[in-house]
Amino acid sequence: MQEQVKKKRMLSGIKPTGRLTLGNYIGAIKQFISYQDEYEMYIFIADLHALTLPIDAKELRQNTKDLISIYLACGLDPEKVVLFKQSDVHEHAELGYIMACNSYMGELSRMTQYKDKTANMSEKDSIPTGIFLYPALMAADILLYDPDYVPVGVDQKQHVELTRDLAIRFNSRYSDTFKVPEPLTSKQGAKVFSLSNPEKKMSKSESDKGTIYLLDDLNVSRKKIMSAVTDLGRDIKYDPANKPGISNLLTIASCLSGKSISTLEKECEGMGYGDFKKVVADIVCNELSSLQTKVASIQASGIIEKVLEEGAMKASYVARKKLSKVYRKVGLR
Ligand code: AMP
Ligand code: TRP
Repeated sequence: MQEQVKKKRMLSGIKPTGRLTLGNYIGAIKQFISYQDEYEMYIFIADLHALTLPIDAKELRQNTKDLISIYLACGLDPEKVVLFKQSDVHEHAELGYIMACNSYMGELSRMTQYKDKTANMSEKDSIPTGIFLYPALMAADILLYDPDYVPVGVDQKQHVELTRDLAIRFNSRYSDTFKVPEPLTSKQGAKVFSLSNPEKKMSKSESDKGTIYLLDDLNVSRKKIMSAVTDLGRDIKYDPANKPGISNLLTIASCLSGKSISTLEKECEGMGYGDFKKVVADIVCNELSSLQTKVASIQASGIIEKVLEEGAMKASYVARKKLSKVYRKVGLR
């Protein structure tokens, strides 16, 4: 009898801190979907991480509901993927504490995201401790499940590298316990840039004008694309160093349409920037329109609670076993 090949495991999550952007969609969610048949996947809503900077409770609840609906609307299939909410599996916080005890102030303060997020806080004494400890909790999120790969956007790669260091350190201190995971970033679209400042990442915190939100009014999104910053010259050419604006729009269009950049360059040859932006806006709005319709029907259907409940049960099963192993190794049991 032929032996069934065991699928490799993958895990990733997104914080429900703000409205999801086209950057999240292209850099993270679309990647998840493309992997769900080939890998055993764990995808979660990193709601504990959303508390690292102050957030209104009502807003957090709404973001969480939107995020799970978007996961489902984009095509993540709960039959294939374990979809859950981080705070439903208490082992995350518990292993997070153990990871904090095994990490150093030095390495945590070298994290780029920590430095960026705290750079313009005027009161250094009141930087929330949670934002500093964030990568230790993220390491716990990952290590509980022994994934082979962690698909993330480039900005999160450093945290996965730290997770590797913490896993190796723990394994050598207490004997083999954790699988050492690999970060996985897709080549194209791993970083989507702001439409108003194509040198900067498109993000919830960058400028509103430069950010497309997945659930925003389509006319607003179209306007943002039509007023995207472009470059000198008139060619529609992919050249990130000299033409960051046009290259960003080409990347977005290519990731959403499935056409290669060179095909798009050919199709748009000779067009002015205005017409080219119209092409991109049509592609984006088509995709968002169908996504928004699905999100509405999922939110009306009441399946969200059931999906999260089942996901939490499956995730807890794995997390519980790993945490109890860790507790034994460190001497808590
Ligand atoms: P965040 O919005 O920072 O919680 O990010 C959630 C996921 O989306 C992470 O895997 C990020 O790397 C990814 N992501 C966020 N913004 C972008 C962007 N502009 N381009 C590509 N990926 C992104
Ligand atoms: N830190 C990630 C972000 O800001 C979210 C996240 C939390 C995550 N835990 C994770 C991603 C574990 C991958 C694996 O996007």
